[in-house]
Amino acid sequence: MKTGNCPRLLIGADWVTTESQISVVNPFTGEAFAQVPLGGAREVERAIATAHETFPKVRKTPAHRRAALLQAVARGIEQRQSEFVNTMVAEAGKPVTLAEAEVARAQVTFLAAAEEARRQHGELLDMDAFASGDGHFGLARRFPMGVIGAITPFNYPLNLVAHKVAPCLATGNTMVLKPATKTPLCALLLAEILVEAGMPPGQVNFVTCTTADSATLLKDDRVKKITFTGSPAVGWKLKEQCGKKHITLELGGNAGVILHEDANLDTAIPAVAAGGFGYAGQSCISVQRVIIHESRYEEVKSRLVSYVREKIKTGDPRDRATVVGPMITPDALKGICEKVDAALDAGAKLVCGGEIHGPCLEATVLEDVKPAMELCAQEAFAPLVTLHRYREFAEALEMVNASDFGLQAGVFTQNLPLALQAFDVLDVGGVLINQVPTFRVDNMPYGGIKDSGFGREGLRYAMEEMTELKSLIIKQG
Ligand code: SIN
Repeated sequence: MKTGNCPRLLIGADWVTTESQISVVNPFTGEAFAQVPLGGAREVERAIATAHETFPKVRKTPAHRRAALLQAVARGIEQRQSEFVNTMVAEAGKPVTLAEAEVARAQVTFLAAAEEARRQHGELLDMDAFASGDGHFGLARRFPMGVIGAITPFNYPLNLVAHKVAPCLATGNTMVLKPATKTPLCALLLAEILVEAGMPPGQVNFVTCTTADSATLLKDDRVKKITFTGSPAVGWKLKEQCGKKHITLELGGNAGVILHEDANLDTAIPAVAAGGFGYAGQSCISVQRVIIHESRYEEVKSRLVSYVREKIKTGDPRDRATVVGPMITPDALKGICEKVDAALDAGAKLVCGGEIHGPCLEATVLEDVKPAMELCAQEAFAPLVTLHRYREFAEALEMVNASDFGLQAGVFTQNLPLALQAFDVLDVGGVLINQVPTFRVDNMPYGGIKDSGFGREGLRYAMEEMTELKSLIIKQG
């Protein structure tokens, strides 16, 4: 096995070691349990050169072969499901049931990409719609761009890597992928599966490196596109630096969910709890702001607190009952505790939680948090929700929109016109009705507006962003 005991970077057909290493630390036990080579600018440059040389060899791969490769990768993930789950629990501190769900999702991501690979048929153009087009035939289809630079975050160490790699393979591009240095093992395990599945050497290259060294991807003209998932601060800086390259940014948010007066709380309460506290809230679409009609505020508060006390267990991510595992680093834990203290000092009230257990913050609910407080205005990325009340539905929509972010939002209501009003008015990439913003199926368009990002993922949409549209016009006769 190349990962786990002895992980390696993958550049072309070579499993690469380096002198520098990074330790992968289990966020729950604090143990440094694996060493991974830390590439530098030299490895990134070599990977770009390899991806660039490989592009002419893969860009014309027929759709059926692209699809077959993607299906083989999905099978490979299934066969090594328990290895992925154990690795993810250890490196990311993800509770085991959520790790299982992520591994299952990664298979779907590759299978959906296989289907989309067969559907890239382009379109006929209605050239005769205007008189000037008379006598012409036209079609448009998409072509791969070339080398793509991909940077992925710690929180979904397999499926967010899959969301870069699968559309790359589906479109016949090549890639240099920098996995998160805190959670590189699942990505390097995926690299093994790609090789075993028969990926042409050099199509996707995996290089761990520092953020500073990944800047090589931004400066090199052979890289045609950057796709980044991670923090808003880093993402927007990348956009400033990437010049003429295309860029997709999947960034953070402080997702809002509205519980209207007609909300079905039997479904809403468990969904809000799972969406706000699952994996310690370390998801870009974790529920953060719960906006409740004043007539249901006290009921929601007491039912949410009871649910949390009964069902939301904090602790060891290997335990199947755990929902809230550790924060990814001690610094992340310290940072969120400081923000909670600052909010409490400024008049917010603790409704439940707030206790620290080792590396974990238990599920925490606060009220009277002012929209301008950092805890509310910034992404918490922690097992924490804030409760807010409203009178008119339009006011609730305004409260969701009063944010620098706009990734996804949820609305619990039985009222179709209000649901449609929310769809119209909310400034977000996705509106979920009777569902929390944390919900995502991997083939749906996913991405945000405002500070939450730029562009969309979700196989077909990522494939569009990794390809250039070219038209062919033929004058008849
Ligand atoms: C993210 O944190 O952006 C990904 C969430 C998901 O895929 O469920």
